[in-house]
Amino acid sequence: MLRRLHPDPADVTAPEAFAGVDFAALAPPDRPYLVINMVASADGRATLAGRTEQLSSEADRDVFHTLRTLVDAVLVGTGTLRAERYGRMVRSPERQEQRRARGLDPEPYAIVCSRRGDFPDDIPLFNDPEARVLTYEREDAALPSRALRRARSEHGVRSVLCEGGPTLNAALLA
Ligand SMILES: NC(=O)c1ccc[n+]([C@@H]2O[C@H](COP(=O)([O-])OP(=O)(O)OC[C@H]3O[C@@H](n4cnc5c(N)ncnc54)[C@H](OP(=O)(O)O)[C@@H]3O)[C@@H](O)[C@H]2O)c1
Repeated sequence: MLRRLHPDPADVTAPEAFAGVDFAALAPPDRPYLVINMVASADGRATLAGRTEQLSSEADRDVFHTLRTLVDAVLVGTGTLRAERYGRMVRSPERQEQRRARGLDPEPYAIVCSRRGDFPDDIPLFNDPEARVLTYEREDAALPSRALRRARSEHGVRSVLCEGGPTLNAALLA
């Protein structure tokens, strides 16, 4: 359960918390609408023993998977792909159905950027025929912003969920 603070305080599940949210409708014409989801410890750590698993509660995982049902694409840093050994984004048939009901493809695009062209080809994400991966490569600090604009113009991506990590988030915020 999550504790909603605004507008009406209540205990809610993640699907209840995001009911009625339409990120795509908020997108400007030239790029997708971007949301970032991260967990952190009270003292600011993004990992414990190099992974997020021990930092996350069941409610965090509920938010993580619910957000994936709402977006056209998920943006992830190559460091996170390697550490967490990412696979395809939506595996549960129930969540795939929730995406279809919203008019979305059952599997969101995965957007991956590397300035050095160093993609972790051995992880499940790059070896699952059901995954829909868009890779962008260029020696450029503004690469993630450019990739998001191209995903919009070339693939119609209107909403993107960034799942980190901290390095990619810092580049996006800059
Ligand atoms: N607490 C959480 O919610 C959370 C979420 C996600 C990950 N994590 C943890 O965070 C760790 C990984 O994070 P990380 O910060 O090391 O890596 P990251 O942000 O996942 O990936 C960094 C990589 O992104 C690429 N990139 C592309 N464009 C960039 C740009 N303009 N500026 C900077 N980087 C760019 C870089 O590869 P190139 O050098 O090839 O360009 C860089 O090495 C893992 O341990 C993971 O478990 C925690």
